Amino acid sequence: MPDPTRVNADQLAFWNGVGGRTWVERQDHTDRVLEPVTRKLLSFAAPRPGERVLDVGCGCGASTLEVARAVGPSGRVRALDISVPMLAEAAARAEARGLAHIDWLEADAATAELDEYDLLVSNCGLMFFGDPVPAFVNLHRAAAPGARMVFVCWRGLDENPWIGVPMQAVLPHIPPRPKGDPRAPGMFAFAEPDHVTEFLTEAGWKQPRLERLDVTFDIAAGGGIDEALTQLTKIGAINSWLRDQPEETHAAAVASMREALTPYVQGQSVLLSGAMWMVASQA
Ligand SMILES: C[S@@+](CC[C@H](N)C(=O)[O-])C[C@H]1O[C@@H](n2cnc3c(N)ncnc32)[C@H](O)[C@@H]1O
Repeated sequence: MPDPTRVNADQLAFWNGVGGRTWVERQDHTDRVLEPVTRKLLSFAAPRPGERVLDVGCGCGASTLEVARAVGPSGRVRALDISVPMLAEAAARAEARGLAHIDWLEADAATAELDEYDLLVSNCGLMFFGDPVPAFVNLHRAAAPGARMVFVCWRGLDENPWIGVPMQAVLPHIPPRPKGDPRAPGMFAFAEPDHVTEFLTEAGWKQPRLERLDVTFDIAAGGGIDEALTQLTKIGAINSWLRDQPEETHAAAVASMREALTPYVQGQSVLLSGAMWMVASQA
């Protein structure tokens, strides 16, 4: 396992630096692509009016705003993230929508002192801990007796052609990449169901239920293939691979991605499948 302290420091720097900035810039596109996931998370978690909810790794607040609507003003939502720019964006969006019963907390979910919640949710915000066991122990401390936790995470890259297809197109243009630990913190850290079950039960959570969520993503968010290519080069893994590459490498990679994605174009959409886990557990 990579050194957890180092991982946590790197995550803090990333989400407060280039990662956080690009997520804020590209949030509108990202929210539209992930809208079916946010909707499923909400129906799976089923927040009830009056409940106290903790949204972990809330980012720019797509799930937070929906949860806040569901619990209503008699409920309370605390949205927690390590990213200052993303929290600022989320808070501005909530204010613009008149949602006053959310409070925003800049903190590391693995160590933050938290009060008690009826429901903990997360939309892809939990896969970045240096060591998941103590982090989920800390989240367990924030769970009221019988509280539920519901989160979404990615299944493996092989089941996610929406990102696998463009990645394969880019790989020949960049230096060979070392084969990493599949459980290392990052997008696909929770792809293995046995791993998820193991660290959650070790952290004191009840045996989780993992349901497959299969989604067709429009990676262009209705904006055509150029918009899909812009998103892929501005945010996420491909953005990091190309960040320090010369202009001609960047251009060649984009040309290859265009070719690889053309078969998936339907009008202004670029439609590819994606695969996630919906995970539910109880304190
Ligand atoms: C992939 S983004 C998802 C954001 C948001 N939930 C959404 O669906 O748009 C992951 C989020 O987790 C946050 N994050 C990563 N590590 C964290 C930690 N240890 N504690 C709290 N938030 C963390 C990041 O800052 C980022 O906002």
